[in-house]
Amino acid sequence: MSVKLKACLCLLLATTQVFLCLAQKKSIDQRVDSVLRLMTLDEKVGQLNQYNGDFSSTGPITKDGDKQRQIRQGQVGSMLNIMGTAHTRQLQEIAMESRLKIPLIFGQDVIHGYKTIFPLPLAEAASWDLPAIEKSERIAATEASASGIHWTFAPMVDIARDPRWGRVMEGSGEDPWLGALIAGARVRGFQGKGLGNTDAVMACAKHFAAYGAAIGGRDYNDVDMSERQLWETYLPPFKAAAEAGAATFMNSFNTLNGIPASGNKYLQRDILKGKWGFKGFVVSDWGSIGEMINHGYVKDNYEAALSAITAGSDMDMESRSYKNNLAKLVTEGKVKIAIVDEAVKRILKKKFELGLFDDPFRFCNAEREQREMNNPAHLLVAREMAKKSIVLLKNDKQLLPLSKQTKTIALIGPFIKAVRDNLGFWSYDWPDDTAMIVTQWQGIKNKLGADAKLLYAHGCNIKDTSRAGFVEAIEAALQAEVVILSMGEARDMTGEAKSRSNIHLPGVQEELIKAIQATGKPLVVMLNTGRPLVFNWTADNVPAILYTWWLGTTAGDAIADVLFGDYNPTAKLPISFPRTEGQIPVYYNHYNTGRPAKNENDLNYVSAYIDLPNSPKFPFGFGLSYTSFQYGEIQLNKTSFTPTEKLTASIVLTNSGNFDGEETVQLYIRDMVGSVVRPVKELKGFQKVFLKKGESKTISFSISAHDLRFYNNALQYNFEAGDFKVFIGGNSRDVKQANFQLKK
Ligand code: GLC
Repeated sequence: MSVKLKACLCLLLATTQVFLCLAQKKSIDQRVDSVLRLMTLDEKVGQLNQYNGDFSSTGPITKDGDKQRQIRQGQVGSMLNIMGTAHTRQLQEIAMESRLKIPLIFGQDVIHGYKTIFPLPLAEAASWDLPAIEKSERIAATEASASGIHWTFAPMVDIARDPRWGRVMEGSGEDPWLGALIAGARVRGFQGKGLGNTDAVMACAKHFAAYGAAIGGRDYNDVDMSERQLWETYLPPFKAAAEAGAATFMNSFNTLNGIPASGNKYLQRDILKGKWGFKGFVVSDWGSIGEMINHGYVKDNYEAALSAITAGSDMDMESRSYKNNLAKLVTEGKVKIAIVDEAVKRILKKKFELGLFDDPFRFCNAEREQREMNNPAHLLVAREMAKKSIVLLKNDKQLLPLSKQTKTIALIGPFIKAVRDNLGFWSYDWPDDTAMIVTQWQGIKNKLGADAKLLYAHGCNIKDTSRAGFVEAIEAALQAEVVILSMGEARDMTGEAKSRSNIHLPGVQEELIKAIQATGKPLVVMLNTGRPLVFNWTADNVPAILYTWWLGTTAGDAIADVLFGDYNPTAKLPISFPRTEGQIPVYYNHYNTGRPAKNENDLNYVSAYIDLPNSPKFPFGFGLSYTSFQYGEIQLNKTSFTPTEKLTASIVLTNSGNFDGEETVQLYIRDMVGSVVRPVKELKGFQKVFLKKGESKTISFSISAHDLRFYNNALQYNFEAGDFKVFIGGNSRDVKQANFQLKK
């Protein structure tokens, strides 16, 4: 076949596909319009109304009327916290009794796994492994969709710089660039090959916006910042989620500069639906529309409904403001029906895209549910993800990895035999999953088998002041060759409404660590939590520390893989660890100030605390390996380039230790002079590099003017010519640097 003929055929095929796609797309838009034309005002309002189920709740419950009757009357568009094909089918059948048979959509907080629980999102972010994170969400979506769920209220993409805020566990940490990459990976994981596939669920980028900047790290508190800061730090992950095709957004509880997000037209209409061209729909967070009364932004639910629908909140989760007021607002001429129609169409469109109008029960396959809910392949993926999430913070004298021939090990602490704590916040208590959850005790037993003698002592409780267990713990330690202490926060100490003013290790945990350290036995401390904690004595005195977060169903096995060297840690902190609460907020991409301290001890009229070094206890991007990596000097292929050129920065990385290992090589830049001041470092690249022991490799990064853009004072996103530094290293502190210039 001639090349020309081939080209013509390809063109014809492409044109046909585009036409079919447009025809199909047009048919969904047409089908939406055809349904809309049939709907009464009450039925339209019904589509904007979302209720929680009556079996579990993730917010304050409102006891009221018969939800099934309301579904039957077409007054409900969606339900949340309804799980399982049987229950979703039952309610969908009731929806099919309504006049227009508009299907319900079922939403659920599938935040880090559904039946197979994965590490907390912040722990997964520590992997810096985008494909692994995407795979994690793919499995979550596979399980959730098999259980009748169409929509997950995830990913949570809030940038957080304040570990007092309990929901720091739910996001990707402090960096907007890494957070944006992870947001995209999570959306792609949830939505897979696209809505309409029965293993795809709608993603929901939340909480729009800037919820992580709650003043004082106190959940639900107000947020106040410059628009420029909003664009520079808090919006990038949301923009990335929208660009990745997130089907929905969820607005946030907080006010932003005095206006609650639910009633914030600038956020929802100007930015999201306007500038970013978002075609999905926005759901409010639990009751947030009605909470505008508490905020003092509206007088009553009537005004709340008016404010929210006008500002672009399409669906009302649990506040009943729309249900009880929207029709009246329309009939009284306060709200144009076109505004309501626009919201209804956005929601109907997603129901069509999910295929629910063609088959409302297509996600209600009990056989598939049984198969996917107990899929051992999912556990293997979860274990891989968990291993990649464990951060090695310290390993003096190469205490780790421990030998598998160790004869007697003392396992001490309140989390060694903990079961459900391993699942962390935003997980489910399935009746049949206890046996699936691998405790730390069991994981070590699995690894070492019957040869090793494991001594157990509870040691202390999580947060009370009893020292009654110390004696038994010390006795166990004295009998052992090595001691492993498992400390931290219970699963419900980080998460929603779990802000802590004091993020030190709770209770008497650090006293127990000191007592065990005093025995002189080799000591490994594992810290289980969903946030950065303060543990300075431990960090300064204990030889080996693993940050094990909460790792999910396979936690114990993953931890044992790392403890005994079957996996060489690769994780890097996605958030800075403060030395104490008084240092918060501390983050790597800070501005330089007019009086930067020259070093840790400089107190001569500089921006520093007189009682604390300025640096964090552990910096953003930090994480050790069982091996060591040496960085050569940065080589630039040129020292200046124009906006149409690119610069290449290279470095030779050597595995100089005794183990094969993977390093996450990080690239940062600093714009030395800008029309607004620029951070001292900005993450702009990373590469995960596996090197066998003794191996060296040249790692190269390409830098373009595009990478140097930022929001200027007029909120224009652009680069500015001038002098720059480039940094490359294994974390944001220990870096090599070089200078370059971007020419006009
Ligand atoms: C909660 C959370 C939100 C969650 C929603 C539904 O209050 O803020 O993240 O998706 O309610 O459970």
